[in-house]
Amino acid sequence: MGPTPEPAFPPGDGSPGLAGAQGSGAMAWWRLEMVCAPELEESLLWKLPTLGISRVALTHRPESPQRCLLLAWLPEIDWPAPERVELARALAPLGEPFGLSLPPLAWHRQDDEDWSLSWKQHWQPDPVGQTLLILPAWLEAPADQAHRRPIRMDPGSAFGTGSHPSTRLCLEALEALAEQRGGLGALAPLEGLRVADLGCGSGILALAALRLGACQVAAVDTDSLAIRSTTENARLNDFTVGDGSLAPAQLRLALGSASTLEILLEGRPADLLLCNILAPVIEALSPSFRSLLAPAGVGFLSGLLVDQAPGLEKVLAAQGWRAQLVARQESWGLMRLEIRRDVA
Ligand SMILES: C[S@@+](CC[C@H](N)C(=O)[O-])C[C@H]1O[C@@H](n2cnc3c(N)ncnc32)[C@H](O)[C@@H]1O
Repeated sequence: MGPTPEPAFPPGDGSPGLAGAQGSGAMAWWRLEMVCAPELEESLLWKLPTLGISRVALTHRPESPQRCLLLAWLPEIDWPAPERVELARALAPLGEPFGLSLPPLAWHRQDDEDWSLSWKQHWQPDPVGQTLLILPAWLEAPADQAHRRPIRMDPGSAFGTGSHPSTRLCLEALEALAEQRGGLGALAPLEGLRVADLGCGSGILALAALRLGACQVAAVDTDSLAIRSTTENARLNDFTVGDGSLAPAQLRLALGSASTLEILLEGRPADLLLCNILAPVIEALSPSFRSLLAPAGVGFLSGLLVDQAPGLEKVLAAQGWRAQLVARQESWGLMRLEIRRDVA
């Protein structure tokens, strides 16, 4: 397989996205390239959109798993030389927690047409686990992947195109749960399951849960661009989406955080809680988990570094949870969360 696409951020700024960019003729772009260590990926993918940079891709090459290439496309008109110098300065502190210095930033000017082509090149059908397939919206599943369950994604979508380790860990855990419950050969192995997705990004976890047969997913994100992206991706996959106030929808979606999710769940905690956010945010949100997850439910928490797991386990244990690191990819971990039977 070619380079793997990584989480991309939303065009959100009302930007052209793919289709608009193709039509905007005279515009030129700076393509930023940075070869970086995997530890820096998530921080960069977090930071760049806050600086107004939403067109981002990461590629991993099988021959050098310890390095990834981050690509970002910035409108030339908005990023003159002083702004680009300032950007390097703004990103530099991201390496500090890992004892790394930020790699050099390489800039290449390119025309609009080149940009849209470059963007597309970084998107290939991406198989996850045994049965899932993340499909760029404009592609059909290749014949050798046609047996997989497709999740169609728009490239302009928020974090979560499925190839970031923390997202993959959640997708694989979802699939493992499906295997335990209905078996992966079943049409809807997660049938009857009510799912809560806290920090849905592009909606990829919510859509995977629905694709595996969950009857309903409630999802929230504090980023309005993520809500837009999740809505668009749900429609691409022919799932009904609403805010719960009108006709029942497979995906109930709203801007907000834990308390909004509680409202979407209508006072009935979910059977499965998905939360892929950085460890400090998970910790801050953890007091709400009791009202989001049913006593017999299971949570999958990701977005934490393996080193952060013991601290987080301790915090959760003090709140009556049994939280265990059950999987890892690179330096990212996945925690399974259940009520502690000894104290419940
Ligand atoms: C790492 S992304 C995960 C996206 C997607 N669920 C996935 O697994 O790929 C985390 C998402 O959580 C959202 N987020 C951050 N803090 C949040 C909070 N306190 N409440 C709800 N969402 C939050 C961010 O906007 C972002 O979209």
